[in-house]
Amino acid sequence: MARITAGIATSHVPAIGAALDNGRAGEPYWKPVFAGYEFSRQWLAERKPDVVVLVYNDHASAFSLDIVPTFAIGCAASFQPADEGWGPRPVPIVEGHPELALHIAQSVIQQDFDLTIINRMDVDHGLTVPMSLLFGQPQRWPVRVIPLAVNVVLYPPPSGRRCFELGKAIRRAVESFDEDLDVEVWGTGGMSHQLHGPRAGLINREWDNHWLDRLIEDPEAVSRIPHVEYLREAGSEGVELVMWLIMRGALDPRVRTVHRFYHVPASNTAVGHVILENEE
Ligand code: DHB
Ligand code: FE
Repeated sequence: MARITAGIATSHVPAIGAALDNGRAGEPYWKPVFAGYEFSRQWLAERKPDVVVLVYNDHASAFSLDIVPTFAIGCAASFQPADEGWGPRPVPIVEGHPELALHIAQSVIQQDFDLTIINRMDVDHGLTVPMSLLFGQPQRWPVRVIPLAVNVVLYPPPSGRRCFELGKAIRRAVESFDEDLDVEVWGTGGMSHQLHGPRAGLINREWDNHWLDRLIEDPEAVSRIPHVEYLREAGSEGVELVMWLIMRGALDPRVRTVHRFYHVPASNTAVGHVILENEE
C-alpha cells in the first residue's frame, strides 16, 4: 500500500528561483536563505520519496481570471514550467503520477470534496521554487509530482478548516492506493507578506513563529483561524498559509519536527520551512 511518509512546508518566493537560475545563490543576500535548506536536501536525498503531492497556488500562469478552481488536481503525465514575472524557469519538466492522481481524485471527491480534474496544466514558481529549494538543480527531478492547485489569489479562498480536512481525505486516499509508494505532502506559500497597497512589505515574525508552533502542536486550533486574521497579521498574501494546513491534515495529530527554518527577508516575504514526520 502507499503511505504518507512526511509533510514538508516551504515558502515559494519567485526571486529565490531567479537567484538560483542566475547563479546568485552564493551572494550574501541569498546565502542564508539557501543554507536553511541544506539539511533538507540531504534528508530528501536519503529518503527518496516516490511521489510528492505538492499543494501550491497558481499565480495566473495556468488559470486566468476566466476560470479559477478552488482545488484543482493535476492528473497529467507531465507539466511544463511557466511563469509570469521572470518568465518560465529553466528547470526540468515536472513528471506526474496520473494513476495515483486519478485515484486521489476519485477517493477525495467521493469523500465530498469537489476537486477540479486538470488533464493539462503548466506549473509556475508556486510549484517550481519549492522543488528547487529541496532538490537543487538536477537534470531531471528525482520524484514524481501531483500538483494540487489551491485558489488563494482571488477572493474567496477556501477556509483553513476545509484545507485541514482535505489533507485528512488525501491521506485516506493515498493509504487506499494499492501500490507500494512513499508519498510526501508538501504545503507551500507564505509566510507573512503583502505585495500591494499601503501595507506592502508587511512582515510579522512574531505571528509567523507562533502560528508555526501551533501548526505543529495544535493544528485543530490553527484550522479555525479566520481569513481576516491572516490578512491582518500576515498580510494579504499571507493567506497562502492555509495551504500548509493540507499538508498538516495528512499527518497524525502528533508529529515530530525534523527540521525548522525561518528567515527574513527574501524579496518581500518571510521565508518559513518545516519538515514533519508522524511520531511512531
Ligand atoms: C513575492 C512572493 C510571492 O509569494 C509571490 O507569489 C510573488 C512575489 C515576493 O516576495 O516578491
Ligand atoms: Fe505567492
